[in-house]
Amino acid sequence: MFDPVEPLKQPVTFPFSGRTAKNRFLKSAMSERLATFSTFDPSGRGQPTEELVRLYETWAKGDIGIIVTGNIQIKKDHLEATGRNTIIDRDLPSVYLQEWTEVARAAKSQGSLVIGQLNHPGRQVSINIQPYPEAPSDVEQPSTGDVLFGRPTPLTKDGIKDIVDRFTYAASVLHRAGFDGVQLHAAHGYLLSQFLAKRTNMRTDEYGGSLVNRAHILLEIIAAIRRAVQNPSFIISVKLNSQDSIPEGFCIEESIMVAKLLEIAGVDFIEVSGGAYEQTTRSSRDKVTLLYFTGSPELIPSDYKPYTVETREGYFVEYAELLRSHLNLSKVVATGGFRTSQGMANAVSQGAADIIGLARPLTAEPLLVRDILRGEKKTAKGDRFPESPMLRFVASAAQIAEIGNGQDITDFDNAFHVARFIAKMQKEIPAAISEALFL
Ligand SMILES: Cc1cc2nc3c(=O)[nH]c(=O)nc-3n(C[C@H](O)[C@H](O)[C@H](O)COP(=O)(O)O)c2cc1C
Repeated sequence: MFDPVEPLKQPVTFPFSGRTAKNRFLKSAMSERLATFSTFDPSGRGQPTEELVRLYETWAKGDIGIIVTGNIQIKKDHLEATGRNTIIDRDLPSVYLQEWTEVARAAKSQGSLVIGQLNHPGRQVSINIQPYPEAPSDVEQPSTGDVLFGRPTPLTKDGIKDIVDRFTYAASVLHRAGFDGVQLHAAHGYLLSQFLAKRTNMRTDEYGGSLVNRAHILLEIIAAIRRAVQNPSFIISVKLNSQDSIPEGFCIEESIMVAKLLEIAGVDFIEVSGGAYEQTTRSSRDKVTLLYFTGSPELIPSDYKPYTVETREGYFVEYAELLRSHLNLSKVVATGGFRTSQGMANAVSQGAADIIGLARPLTAEPLLVRDILRGEKKTAKGDRFPESPMLRFVASAAQIAEIGNGQDITDFDNAFHVARFIAKMQKEIPAAISEALFL
């Protein structure tokens, strides 16, 4: 009998680590904000808690091929948001190895691969959290609404070396804790994507200028992790923007070139996303179409067959498809906007992506992938929010906390719950909203 989700059930083997994910689903990174936090004592920050373990135990039951954690900060004073970020900083008095081992055990308990996402926010951090951010150059992030940003101090070469060491240290801790790999967050306007974009990288040394120079730090981190971990089966992945959607921002042509460098560097999979806090974006379609017709025809393979538009789902799927045609080994994960099993299966069967990344649908329904694979669900749960992406992000963050606390998950497909949530948020806004923006 024809099984519409058969393509999603196929295992996928990564080219460099040789590891196999049991199916074509990836739980995309979502900042959990469930670590310990102390306002005045940074040494009491960032430790995984029982809530975090419960959250990953829950997702583990969902039959997801690959589980990526929310972004883990590599420097305790450079947090992505206020509050309860996870942190692995070699300067903290304890590395929390036991706690991370518990998280790995929970996430892997039903056969998923578990990957820890590592991040440094660079300049993209509210002035209330870090008034003295560090970044490739002193290009300040424009203020957005109520959120102001400090003028960043350009990193010295020693500062860059220190950042490389810190990413490497955090990866080694996760490796010792039993994680199957790491993902470097080089998307959404954070430090590594600030290095990649001309707009934010004005350096004239070997970390700025040409695209290869702008990718230098990322490539150094990958090489350093390989040297430190000494385990070829440890997965290294990168989350990369298809484009920043800002003038002088990282663009599609550059993204393809960087992805090729990452393939040479032995990156098992590249997760494709887009946009930054400065400018969110939800589609690569127009830009890829533009490339196709006018832009850089040399980037378009002669047998390029655009992904069938009528069955399109997913914000960056056109870019993912184009990227796939430029890579020989690394796998491509398309994340963002997938909501139906048909749309997900089409993206895989039509060759637009190797793997489907899901974030918000898995906070409303942590077992959604299992139910899709069993043929019991065809569509992710909807919601009754007015057209406001930010509210949806905050709502997902609230659902994450509920799962971590063992509470019932609020059903936002219920208009009453939505109204109550919005009323609550209006009291807590702008703090909640601005915090939620730092993704
Ligand atoms: C609450 C929340 C937290 C997020 N935190 C992160 C993060 O830590 N790292 C990251 O790369 N993306 C983060 N994202 C973005 C998601 O990984 C994903 O790219 C985005 O939500 C689009 O996928 P979706 O349409 O399936 O939700 C976050 C999203 C949400 C809703």
